[in-house]
Amino acid sequence: MDAEIRFQPSGRSIKVRKGTTLLDAARRAGVHIATRCGGKASCFMCKVQVLPGSKLLPVGDIESRKLAGLEEQGMRLSCQARANGNCEVEIPPDPLRAAVARQLARQQEDDLW
Ligand code: FES
Repeated sequence: MDAEIRFQPSGRSIKVRKGTTLLDAARRAGVHIATRCGGKASCFMCKVQVLPGSKLLPVGDIESRKLAGLEEQGMRLSCQARANGNCEVEIPPDPLRAAVARQLARQQEDDLW
């Protein structure tokens, strides 16, 4: 094991071998990252924000095409990004869960009236 991957906002971390994808590391750590394509770089659901100081292998052609420049803002596809040392990544809120939470909050406000 030669890379420690820390996931935010949970703070969970796991030690993995260099070359492990962030998605595989997350699964081993029990951290949920939404996916639909099974890690084939086509659904775009597994994107994560890589925090400064993280050591990842460079973005490949397929991932680069999919990200279309977002990699310059620290975004990576967790199914394609491979650890090359210690990393810390922020997992954005699941859009579907966030939408459901907003709807429930609105409904609770309406019920108060
Ligand atoms: S799992 Fe679908 S793009 Fe990464």
